[in-house]
Amino acid sequence: MERRNFLKSCACVAAIGTTAGLASKADAASKKPDSQRPKPGDLLVIEDGHGNARPISASELVLEAQQVMAFPQDPESGVIRSGSRFNKVMVMRLDPALMDETTKNNSEDGVVAYSAICTHQGCDVNSFVADKKEFFCFCHYSRFNPYAAGDVTNGPATRRLAMLPIKIVDDLIVVKEEFTRSPGYKK
Ligand code: FES
Repeated sequence: MERRNFLKSCACVAAIGTTAGLASKADAASKKPDSQRPKPGDLLVIEDGHGNARPISASELVLEAQQVMAFPQDPESGVIRSGSRFNKVMVMRLDPALMDETTKNNSEDGVVAYSAICTHQGCDVNSFVADKKEFFCFCHYSRFNPYAAGDVTNGPATRRLAMLPIKIVDDLIVVKEEFTRSPGYKK
């Protein structure tokens, strides 16, 4: 990971503080549209941090290439739900033949989306180690299996990553269902 990205990841954790580690559905429902959790029909987009975004196309995703960081966008209002970092997701293409049933059901054509928030202490999980086929969190070295619904393969994290079930529509990646569990971490 680049040093700049690592520091950014740590800064985000510090900004959360010591209390808000786990997003709840009740909290999400009361928030502004840009902070509400992803909803069915949302597009997954890459945001540049200045309110500009472009949709991710499934065809641009190369098998087991590094994950793309994305946020959901309401296609009707155009609102990008980046007001909460708990909405940040990792999108990548996997080999469907290696997926377990849950992963297969939450994906399409090998494309998966997972919460990017580490379930240990909330750093961004922004690395994929191709030879081990695992997501890797640089903060304390937890690892997660994207082929097994985000299961923990190495602690200190103990909770699997949340999946965001998706489908592909006209080559765009669309949210099919809400997160499989609350994204974030428990103290
Ligand atoms: S925050 Fe990811 S391993 Fe600790």
